[in-house]
Amino acid sequence: MTPDPILRAVTPAPASRLVTLRDRRAADLPTLTRWLTDPGAEWRRWDAPYFPAASTTRTMRAYAESLAASSPDADEQVIDVDGVVVGMVNRSEEEPQGGGWWDLGILIYDPAYWGGGVGTRALALWVQDTLDWTDAHVLTVTTWGGNHRMLRLGARLGFRECARVRQARLWEGVRHDSVQLDLLRGEWRGLPQP
Ligand SMILES: CC(C)(COP(=O)(O)OP(=O)(O)OC[C@H]1O[C@@H](n2cnc3c(N)ncnc32)[C@H](O)[C@@H]1OP(=O)(O)O)[C@@H](O)C(=O)NCCC(=O)NCCS
Repeated sequence: MTPDPILRAVTPAPASRLVTLRDRRAADLPTLTRWLTDPGAEWRRWDAPYFPAASTTRTMRAYAESLAASSPDADEQVIDVDGVVVGMVNRSEEEPQGGGWWDLGILIYDPAYWGGGVGTRALALWVQDTLDWTDAHVLTVTTWGGNHRMLRLGARLGFRECARVRQARLWEGVRHDSVQLDLLRGEWRGLPQP
């Protein structure tokens, strides 16, 4: 798949950007709420777009409200690029607790930050954080066959395809595969150079 030339052109080189993960702050809430609850946001065409839009909107509104009402959580961090909050990462442990399987998620809301290495850096930091702070033995990321950026990003960090349910996701009349990637603790190569 050819990289998006427009995004490439407007996105500064990743080396010039400081990508960090941090706890959510009260000052981030208006930005997070705006991106999460915008039914027309471009990210919704990439992050599980096969779920009905109306239910996603409801879920996202409830989630944004819950952010305002809850303290920051070690299993959910915001992605900060040069002081601007551009997305979030999260993780959850698959049952049973203590079994060593953690599932990771990543979402960069603003397409102006796609395709320039921010996601690779953020997910690498999140893998490292998860390996440092949990007893994870294996990490997974779940996506779909049309999300080429996510698949490329995962492969670049050493994730391998571990499951593919063919044609499981129907979106805009086209069937796509559901794809899961995994990475074993022992396979992690450490943080790439920024
Ligand atoms: C998926 C996502 C996290 C990736 O982050 P990102 O900053 O765009 O990713 P990066 O720039 O670090 O890496 C993307 C890779 O895809 C490639 N790429 C960029 N644009 C592409 C395009 N249009 N088509 C195919 N590949 C593309 C890049 O070249 C890069 O690969 P490389 O490192 O081998 O060169 C981000 O795009 C995003 O949040 N999208 C919307 C929500 C989403 O899809 N979340 C994931 C749900 S599972």
